[in-house]
Amino acid sequence: MPAAAMRVLVLANQKGGVGKTTTAINLGTALAANGELVLIIDLDPQGNASTGLGIAREHRKISTYDVLSGHERLGAVLRETAVPRLFIAPSTLDLVGFELEIAARPDRAFCLKQALAVFAEEQNAAAVDERFTYVLIDCPPSLNLLTMNALAAAHAVLVPLQCEFFALEGLSQLLNTVEQVKNSLNPGLTMHGIVLTMFDSRNTFAAQVVADVRGFMGDKVYETVIPRNVRVSEAPSHGKPVLLYDLKCSGSQAYLKLASEVIQRERGNGVAAGGEGADGRGRDSPSGFLRAKAKVVVCGPLKETEF
Ligand SMILES: Nc1ncnc2c1ncn2[C@@H]1O[C@H](COP(=O)(O)OP(=O)(O)OP(=O)(O)O)[C@@H](O)[C@H]1O
Ligand SMILES: [Mg+2]
Repeated sequence: MPAAAMRVLVLANQKGGVGKTTTAINLGTALAANGELVLIIDLDPQGNASTGLGIAREHRKISTYDVLSGHERLGAVLRETAVPRLFIAPSTLDLVGFELEIAARPDRAFCLKQALAVFAEEQNAAAVDERFTYVLIDCPPSLNLLTMNALAAAHAVLVPLQCEFFALEGLSQLLNTVEQVKNSLNPGLTMHGIVLTMFDSRNTFAAQVVADVRGFMGDKVYETVIPRNVRVSEAPSHGKPVLLYDLKCSGSQAYLKLASEVIQRERGNGVAAGGEGADGRGRDSPSGFLRAKAKVVVCGPLKETEF
């Protein structure tokens, strides 16, 4: 059975290029393959999650900017993706202006929270199997007002951390920020976990980094480590999650494992979430589901330029 209530997880790390967007896209896909109904909110002006899920810029007439500025409901900007049960609220460069526009407003950190509250009310009126069970928020590489809006609106934080020499640099600042948000904007905020990304066994530092981070953060670090895998980096240029691009590659398999861990942790939090086919609706296993869908999805290479 999928999660009973909508869970809002934010992918945050002020360091750039650590795998936030890749994790949002592929964890989202893997959760959907496990029967969850998933929404990714793209809160980064770069729009990489939107591009990586095949939403061309000309199809982003309304976006998360319109939601944050109060001109559109979140429910109005959702777009389907090639992955069944995975939707995205796309972003555009307009988000760059958001911070300046609302800097003087006293509720500036709560724009997303307010939009999600309206969305949750609408969801309550929807049929049970049309209710979103996971919302993943992809943040920009900065602890700016956009990230603050995400942290203020979320139940928990998921931190992608790249397995590199300077991995721990910046983590303390992020943890401090999360603590401050807890003490001020969002007392219910918890740390869901830290996911180590781009692990390269040929890199002599990588194993040491994994050990250091586990030593520092204990069981907050997910067991699953995402390997560096060229298929993962190729997939976005095809507008697809790697799970649709190459289900068998090590990156896809790791994201399926991560989704199982996330669901397990949710169960540990007393949130009813379930695994494959557990709802008796005869769903395929996650792999079967994705293989079947991958055959019918025709997604050409993107024509637009990536940032
Ligand atoms: N497991 C992986 N194996 C290989 N390449 C990866 C992997 N994960 C991410 N990448 C690549 O690393 C780059 C950075 O990843 P990503 O865009 O997900 O990071 P990010 O934290 O969202 O970046 P930003 O801070 O700019 O938003 C991308 O080119 C992506 O394709
Ligand atoms: Mg990103």
